[in-house]
Amino acid sequence: MAVVKRLCILGSTGSVGRNALRVVESLSERFGVAALCAGKNIALLAAQIAAFKPRVAVVASPEHVEPLKAALKARRYRRPISILAGAEGQAEAATMPEVDFVIAAGYGTTGLLAAYRAVEAGKNLGLANKEVLVVAGELVTQKARETGAAILPIDSEHSAIHQCLRSGRPQEVRRLILTASGGPFLRTPQKSLNSVTPEQALRHPIWKMGGRITIDSATLMNKGLEIIEAHWLFGLPERQIEVLIHPESLIHSMIEFQDGSLMAQLSVPDMRLPIQYAMTYPDRVKLNGDALTLDWARARRLNFEPPDSRRFPCLELGRAALEAGQGMPCAMNAADEVAVEAFLAHRLGFRDIPRVIENVMRATPAVHLISIEDVMELDRQARAAAERSIASLRPSASSGKKGRRTGSWREY
Ligand SMILES: NC(=O)c1ccc[n+]([C@@H]2O[C@H](COP(=O)([O-])OP(=O)(O)OC[C@H]3O[C@@H](n4cnc5c(N)ncnc54)[C@H](OP(=O)(O)O)[C@@H]3O)[C@@H](O)[C@H]2O)c1
Repeated sequence: MAVVKRLCILGSTGSVGRNALRVVESLSERFGVAALCAGKNIALLAAQIAAFKPRVAVVASPEHVEPLKAALKARRYRRPISILAGAEGQAEAATMPEVDFVIAAGYGTTGLLAAYRAVEAGKNLGLANKEVLVVAGELVTQKARETGAAILPIDSEHSAIHQCLRSGRPQEVRRLILTASGGPFLRTPQKSLNSVTPEQALRHPIWKMGGRITIDSATLMNKGLEIIEAHWLFGLPERQIEVLIHPESLIHSMIEFQDGSLMAQLSVPDMRLPIQYAMTYPDRVKLNGDALTLDWARARRLNFEPPDSRRFPCLELGRAALEAGQGMPCAMNAADEVAVEAFLAHRLGFRDIPRVIENVMRATPAVHLISIEDVMELDRQARAAAERSIASLRPSASSGKKGRRTGSWREY
C-alpha cells in the first residue's frame, strides 16, 4: 500500500512524540514522516532523522542548528534536509504542502503557533498538546470550522470521549465524565503535601510522561486543563464536564447520555492507542507486532471516588478559569507552567503551585483575545506575573529584580 499520510510531528523527542514514531514504525505502509520538530535533544532528533528521513527538521532555536548538522554528519547522514528553528520554523514545517497530518505534542505553548497555522492551512491535527486549546480554544476551533480542519484528540481522556461519541449524537449527551488516576499523592494527607519533593511527584503510578504533565497530574491541574480542553473539543459547558478519580486508569473517560445510559472506553493505559486512533481515524487497525490487550485476570476491580478539591485546589482553579473565560485560561496555564518549573527546580513548594496560579489569576485583567499574537502577549505577561508571585512567596528565591508592572495587571 502506498504511503497515505505524511506527518509533521511537533515534539517528536518527547514522550508522546516518541510513541507517535513507534506507531509510524509499526504502520509504515500507512504513514511517512515529512517533518520532525524537537527542542534541544539533538542526539535523539538526529537518531529519529536517520530512522525516518524527514525532508525538514526543526530545533528550538538557531543555536541548535549547527549541533544538529554535526550530529547528522557524525552519523554519515547524507540525505537532503532543511533545518529550521523556533516557533516560526515549526509553523513553516507544519504547513508544508506535503504534510497531511500534524501531531501536536510539544511542550506547553511552544507549538501553539504551528498548531494554529496548521489548522489555518486546513491540515488535520492530532492534538496531545492540550495547552493549544486551553490558551486559544476559541481562536483555534473557530479557525478549524472555517477551514474544515479536523482536530482529533490524542489526550487519552478526550480520545475516549471521541470514541464514546460514536455511539450517540452530541445533543443526546448529558455529561462528560473525565477519569483521573489521582496521581502519586491520592492518599497523601493534606499536611504532608507541604513537604513532598519533585522526585516523589514525578513518580506517576500509571503513566510515564513529560515533567510538566506529570506534576500537573499530581496537583490535578491536568484535569483542570482537560476540562477546558473538553469544553472546546466537544462544545459542552463547564457544569456538564465532571471529574472522577479512577486509580486503575483502565476507563479513560465516559459519556452519560440523556437517558442515563453510560458509555465508557477501556483499554490498557498506553498512549500508542489514542495516538494511533487519531492517526488512522475513522479506521481502527491492529497495532502491528504488539497486542495491547487488556488482561482481565489482572484487572478485576474498577474503583471510583470523587476528587478532593480541598487537597487539590488546582482542579477548581481550572473550572474558575473556564467560567471566567477571555484570557483567564491562558493566564492560568502560563502561571501553572512557571510554578511547575519552579517546583521542579526546588524553588517552590508543592502547595505553593496553586497559590501562585491563584495570585496570577486574581491579577489578570479582563482581556478578549482576538489573535494568536494577543494570546502570546498575555502568556508572556502572565509568566512575568507568576515569577513575581514566586518571588513574593519565597523572598530568598527572588533575583532582586522587580518585574515590570504592565497595563492593568493588579497587585496581589
Ligand atoms: N506524555 C503523555 O502521555 C501525554 C498524554 C496526554 C497529553 N499529553 C500532552 O502532550 C504534550 C507533550 O507532553 P509530553 O509528555 O510528550 O512532553 P515532553 O516529554 O516534555 O516532550 C515535550 C516535547 O516538546 C519539545 N520542546 C520543549 N521545548 C521546546 C521548544 N522551546 N521548542 C520546540 N520544542 C520544544 C521537547 O523537545 P526536547 O526534548 O528535544 O527538548 C519534546 O519533544 C503536553 O501538552 C501534554 O500535556 C501528554
